[in-house]
This record gives sequence, C-alpha cells and structure tokens, in this order.
Amino acid sequence: MWHCRPPAEEGASMSLSRIRGPFALVLALGLAPASALAEELTELVEKWLASPHGDYGSLSFNYWNKEGGVPVACAHCHSQPSFVAWLGADGSEAGVVEHPGAINAPIGCASCHTAAAHALDAVRFPSGVRVDGLGWNATCTVCHQGRQSGDHVTRAIEGIGSDDVSTDLSFLNIHYGVAAAVMHGSEVRGGFQYPGRAYVGRFRHVAGADTCVACHDAHTTQVETDGCLGCHRGVEDIRDIRTRHADFDGDGDISAGVHAEIIGLQDRLYDAIRTYAADVAGVPIVYFPGRFPYYFNDPDGDGAITPEEAIFPNRYRNWTPRLLQAAYNYQVAKKDAGGYVHNPPYLLQLLHDSLESLSERVEIDTRRLRRP
Ligand code: HEC
Ligand code: HEC
Ligand code: HEC
Ligand code: HEC
Ligand code: HEC
Repeated sequence: MWHCRPPAEEGASMSLSRIRGPFALVLALGLAPASALAEELTELVEKWLASPHGDYGSLSFNYWNKEGGVPVACAHCHSQPSFVAWLGADGSEAGVVEHPGAINAPIGCASCHTAAAHALDAVRFPSGVRVDGLGWNATCTVCHQGRQSGDHVTRAIEGIGSDDVSTDLSFLNIHYGVAAAVMHGSEVRGGFQYPGRAYVGRFRHVAGADTCVACHDAHTTQVETDGCLGCHRGVEDIRDIRTRHADFDGDGDISAGVHAEIIGLQDRLYDAIRTYAADVAGVPIVYFPGRFPYYFNDPDGDGAITPEEAIFPNRYRNWTPRLLQAAYNYQVAKKDAGGYVHNPPYLLQLLHDSLESLSERVEIDTRRLRRP
C-alpha cells in the first residue's frame, strides 16, 4: 500500500535525535506502532502522496520515460534511489551518482529519512560555496539550489566585449524551484552580481519563520499562511505583505506588496531585454516560459511566439555578455515565484542592476527606480 518505506521499518538507520515525540519511541524500540501512531503515520503518508514530492504523475518524475532512466546529471534531484545514492546512504560514495536514475521515483520518505539524510548539515552550491548548519533544511537545500550560479555567467563571458555578439555564448539557466539559492543571496551567488555592487546575503526573516521547514510543512510542502498574517496585519493575502516602502519599480504606486514591486521590475527588465536584443545584439528576442532554453528568436519582433516556434532549433543565439547577464537574472527571478518571501531585497537588487546595465546602451528611464 505504501509507496515508500516508512521510517518505522528503517529502525536503526534513523537518527533519533532529530525525531521528536511519540515517533521517537516507536523508532527507537522498533515497535509495531500502536494504532493511534499507525493512524498518524498513515495520515502523514497520505499528506505526502498529495504533495508535489509524491506526485507520481508530475513531469519532474516522468520527463525521461522515453529514455527509461534519469541521466546522471539530473538524477539525484529527480529520482529517490539516486538521491539516496548521492547521500551515500546505500553504501556508495557520497556526492556522486554513478548510474542513471529510476523513472517514476518521486521524493519519498527514504529521501529525507535515512541516517545520512538526517546527518547532512552542510551543502555545496553551484558556485562552490558551502553553507553549514542547515539541519533539517539540508536536504531541501540540495535539490532547491539550482544548477548554475552568477559565477558560471562570469566565466562564460570572460574576454568578450560587453556588447559583442559571440557564438561562444548560449543561455545559462539556473533551473527550477531555486528557493535556497535565492534565500542565501550573495552568500552563494545564485544571481549574476554586477562587479562593484554590494548584494544582501541570506535573508534573515524572523525567528520561527526563518528556514525552509519553519515555513513549509516538510510533508505537504505547503505554507500555513495564517501565522504570517498574524504578524503582517492589515493584509489578507501574503502577496500584499510589505515592510519596505520605497518605489523600487518606479511606477509611482507603493500600495501593493513587495511582490508587486518585484513583478514590476521584472516586466520592465523584460522590455529592456527586448529593446537591447533588437537594437544592439541585432536580432529580436522573445521569452517563452516553461520551454528550454526559454529565449527564442522573434523574427517579426512583435513579442509573440507560438509553442511550435518555441523549439530548440529556434533558440536565441545572438548573445552578448550584457544581454546574457540580464537574461540570466530575469530567469532567476522568474524561477523562484516565492522569491518575494525567500529574499526580496536580493531579487530587487539583481533586477535593478540588470536594468541599469542595459540602460547604458538603450534608452531606459531609470531615474525613478530605487535600489534596496
Ligand atoms: C539540484 C537539483 C536538480 C538537478 C540536478 C536537476 N533538477 Fe530538474 N528540477 C529540480 C527541482 C527542484 C524541480 C521542481 C521545482 C518546482 O516544481 O518548483 C525541477 C524540475 C524539473 C522539470 C519539470 C519542469 C516543469 O515544467 O514542471 C524538468 C523537466 C527538469 N527539472 C529537468 C531536469 C533535467 C533535464 C536535469 C538534468 C540535465 C535536471 N532537471 C537536473 C531540481 C533539479
Ligand atoms: C522532503 C523531505 C521529507 C520527506 C519526503 C519526508 N519527510 Fe518526514 N520529516 C521531514 C522533516 C524535515 C521532518 C522534521 C519536521 C520538523 O519537525 O520540523 C520530518 C519529520 C517526520 C516524522 C516525525 C514527526 C514528528 O512529529 O516529529 C516522521 C514520523 C516522518 N517525518 C515520517 C515520514 C514519512 C512516513 C514520510 C513518507 C510518507 C516522510 N516522513 C517523508 C522531511 C521529510
Ligand atoms: C531529492 C530532491 C528534493 C528534496 C530533498 C526536496 N525537494 Fe522539494 N521538490 C523537488 C522536486 C523535483 C519538486 C517538483 C515536484 C513536482 O513537480 O511534482 C519539488 C517541489 C517542491 C515544492 C513545490 C514547488 C511548486 O512549484 O509548487 C516545494 C514547496 C518544495 N519542493 C519544498 C521542499 C522542502 C521544504 C524540502 C525540504 C524539507 C524539499 N522540497 C526537499 C525536489 C526535492
Ligand atoms: C518565510 C517563510 C519561508 C521560508 C523561510 C521559505 N519559504 Fe519557500 N515559500 C514560502 C511561501 C509563502 C511560498 C509561496 C509564495 C507564493 O506562491 O506566493 C514559497 C514558495 C516556495 C516554492 C515554490 C516556488 C514556485 O516556483 O512556485 C519552493 C520550491 C519553496 N518555497 C522552497 C523553499 C525552500 C527549499 C526553502 C529553504 C531554502 C524555503 N522555501 C524557505 C515561504 C517560505
Ligand atoms: C513574528 C512575526 C512574523 C511572522 C510570523 C512572519 N513575518 Fe514576515 N516579516 C516580519 C518582519 C519583522 C519582516 C521584516 C524583515 C526584514 O526585512 O528585515 C518581515 C518581512 C517579510 C517580507 C518582506 C517584505 C518586504 O517589504 O520586503 C515578506 C514577503 C514576508 N515577511 C512574508 C511572510 C510570510 C509569507 C510569512 C509566513 C510564512 C511571514 N512573513 C511570517 C515578521 C514576521
């Protein structure tokens, strides 16, 4: 009935120090759960099954069905047995995946509840920076860190003039669900950080709502927002929350949440990217969400693209370093829809600086923009 091995069967492999309450006893003694506990456990499994991590039908676990296996480069985040192997919990070397991963193997109990997963406390990001002291949030951080960093952009553009089109360049994509990269800000350099500018580090929210699992239920992945609104009074929707009051996107309206400022800047950046691509890089560009590699040619420059045109052979190729930096940061903001909670000032800074950079070559009114 269960689609994963519940911790009760893993007995000694559980690190008990991190499991509290009655479950601790069950796990410690290897007892068959009393009926009340069995019920709680069943409830937990059902919650998980209804969550994105337990969604057997999701593209995240079905994308490789034709090939029959998840490639090594993708496997530890997209297939439970490979995550277990990556942690070294199956006796293999930690930090590597040697074989393609199983398809249709979502992120189940055994992903987060092995001794190795419980012991994991430090995680290396794509920039190479290691963050320690993550505790329960370490597993989340492995998979929600993205696959590129601003450092990758810096390396890719080395030696190319800012506005020179180069066939050596192609779009670098941070990937999906990059909450941890955004939350840790400049500490891990998930965004492209313009030289000479200072960027905020990890967003320190408030005690009790400062880590992945403090806000997200680890089993449903959902956020209980009633608690948020208890502190952030006067709004009914978390997207209306705001504690900083500058007009970051320069639209003259500061009545909505910080979310609206980020979206406002994002929209302005997209317009600027299109203007720059047409006028300086020489070929119009268009963004198509959800389709790799996201940026495509737009021959008639009307900004519209059909799914049939948003295909790899029609990918954008006239990259200049300046365009790549801005397009990379635009994607970082797009790929963390919770970024306004995870680290609003970092996203505002990245978007702001990208707009300013493009304004050196195309006409953009940046006078009313504010940088946090
Ligand atoms: C560091 C972890 C990590 C690696 C490595 C990784 N992914 Fe992902 N990927 C994720 C996460 C997390 C999500 C889901 C995020 C969300 O739904 O918010 C995701 C989502 C996806 C999706 C689903 C997109 C959708 O529209 O629902 C596809 C397809 C995908 N990844 C392809 C790949 C491919 C191909 C590779 C290897 C080249 C890869 N991933 C490697 C973490 C990773
Ligand atoms: C994505 C990671 C993740 C997955 C998947 C996951 N868990 Fe957990 N689990 C956690 C974390 C993190 C905690 C600690 C949460 C806390 O107390 O802050 C936890 C706590 C628990 C606890 C202790 C509860 C308590 O009240 O202390 C049990 C039991 C448990 N999980 C069972 C399961 C079972 C069964 C599954 C599969 C259906 C599962 N977990 C899947 C991350 C996960
Ligand atoms: C082994 C990799 C892995 C681990 C560990 C992991 N996730 Fe995920 N997470 C994913 C993937 C893949 C998806 C996308 C699932 C889908 O498409 O159904 C996802 C989806 C999510 C979503 C839903 C995103 C959306 O677009 O709605 C949230 C929220 C989330 N994870 C939070 C967490 C938290 C919090 C933890 C730690 C307790 C965690 N994840 C641990 C890989 C992982
Ligand atoms: C202050 C509370 C808070 C913290 C801390 C937090 N999150 Fe979130 N997260 C949220 C909220 C709220 C949303 C939903 C925002 C929305 O949809 O408007 C969200 C959204 C997400 C999403 C879905 C984003 C999307 O594209 O739809 C993922 C994945 C995620 N968080 C993972 C994480 C991970 C991993 C961590 C730790 C590195 C983390 N979160 C830390 C509150 C938090
Ligand atoms: C104990 C009170 C408290 C709780 C609970 C709380 N917050 Fe906050 N929140 C704050 C404070 C204080 C700040 C200002 C932090 C800073 O910028 O240094 C803040 C900042 C924010 C911001 C940034 C606003 C801006 O203008 O930049 C967002 C978004 C936010 N919180 C969302 C949430 C969400 C979502 C939750 C629930 C998961 C939540 N908060 C729970 C007190 C709280």
